[in-house]
Amino acid sequence: ETQIIKIDPNHLDEHYTQQIAYAAQLLRAGELVVLPTETVYGLGANALDAQAAEQIFIAKGRPFSDPLIVHIADKHELENIVSVVPETAWKLAAAFWPGPLTMILPAGPRVPGLITSGLPNVAVRMPAHPIARALIRAAGIPVAAPSANRFMHVSPTTAQHVYADLKGRVPLILDGGPCTVGVESTILDLCAEVPTILRPGGIGLEALRSVLPQLQPPSPRQMQDEEDHMLAQMAPGQMRIHYSPSVPAYLFEGSVVAMRQAMLAEVQARQTQGELVGVLIADEDLSAFQESGAIIYSLGHTPEQIATRLFAGLRTLEEAGVDVILCRNYSEHGLGLAIRDRLLKATGGKVKKL
Ligand code: TXA
Ligand code: MG
Repeated sequence: ETQIIKIDPNHLDEHYTQQIAYAAQLLRAGELVVLPTETVYGLGANALDAQAAEQIFIAKGRPFSDPLIVHIADKHELENIVSVVPETAWKLAAAFWPGPLTMILPAGPRVPGLITSGLPNVAVRMPAHPIARALIRAAGIPVAAPSANRFMHVSPTTAQHVYADLKGRVPLILDGGPCTVGVESTILDLCAEVPTILRPGGIGLEALRSVLPQLQPPSPRQMQDEEDHMLAQMAPGQMRIHYSPSVPAYLFEGSVVAMRQAMLAEVQARQTQGELVGVLIADEDLSAFQESGAIIYSLGHTPEQIATRLFAGLRTLEEAGVDVILCRNYSEHGLGLAIRDRLLKATGGKVKKL
C-alpha cells in the first residue's frame, strides 16, 4: 500500500505540478509523505499538527524523546517557527540556506511539544533539494521530517532504501533519485552558551567558521551519537550497543598503509573461520583488496563521493549477507568530520587503532 512516485528534480516545474500538489494535499490532510532532500530522505508530516507528527514516531519506531527537525521552504518562515531569531541565525541562513545546516533556536508558540520532545528549543532547516522545497511550498506548512529509516537503522539515500525500511508504513514515497550530499545536516545549537555543533554533517566546520570564527569541533562526547543520549535513557550503561547496520562493523584508524595491512590480515583471519567479510574502502584501496576474497564496496575518491555513497555502501554490504563489515578511516577535513561520525555510529564505536 506504499505508493512510489518518481519525479525528476531537474524538470520539476514543467512536468510534475500534479504529483507535487497531490503529495502536498496528503501532508495538509495529516498524512505522512517521504520526500528526498539533498542530505538523506525525510519522513515528512505537518509540523504544526501534533497528531500528524505522532505518525512519524509510530512509522519509524522512534521514541518520543527524540525531537524532530522542522523544514521550511523560505528563510522568512523562520519567524513563524522560532520565538526570537538572533542576528547570527540570519547570517548563517544567508550563508548556508538552502542547504544541509540545521539550527537549534528558541521554539515559537505554534510548535507542538511533540516536535521538540518538550524542549524549549526547536531544530529548523531549509533544505536545498528542489522537490523538498516545491513540496513544502505547495503544502504551505512547515514539514517535520526525521531521516526516513526505521529507528536505529542506516539513513536512506535512495527511495529503495526507504521502501526497504518503511513499506506498508507510509502512504507515499516521492522518488527523486539518489541524495547528492549523502550524510545528514550539520546541527548547530545556537541556544547553548557558545554556538555548538551537536552533529557534524553536510556543512563542514571550516565553512561554518566563515560566519562563526570561534566555532570549535564537536567534543568526543558530542561526536559519539545524537541518538545515544536517548539510548542511555532507554538502556542505562549500554551506550555502545551497535545499531546500524544490522551486522557488526569495525573502524580501522591509522596510516593508509597500516589500515590496509590490518584490514587484510583481519579479512584473512575471519575467512579462515568461515566468515564472509565485507570491506568499505576507497578507490585507491581497490588493487590491495582485489585478491582478498572480501566483498568489496568502494566509496570513491573525494570526501564528497565518500559521503554520498557511505550509507548505500553499508546497506549494500548488509544485504550481501556479510558476517562483518570492516571500514577504513579518512581525513577529517571538510565532510571528513561527518564521515568519521557516521562510521563511529555504524561501528558502534568499535575502533581498531593502529
Ligand atoms: O539532514 C537531515 O538533517 C535529515 C533530513 C531529512 O533533513 N534529517 C535528520 O533528522 O537527520 P533526524 O531526526 O534523523 O535527526 C535529527 C536530530 C535528532 O536525532 C535530534 O536528536 C536532533 O536532531 N534534534 C532535533 N530537535 C532538537 C532540539 N530541539 N534540540 C536538540 N537536538 C535536536
Ligand atoms: Mg536519523
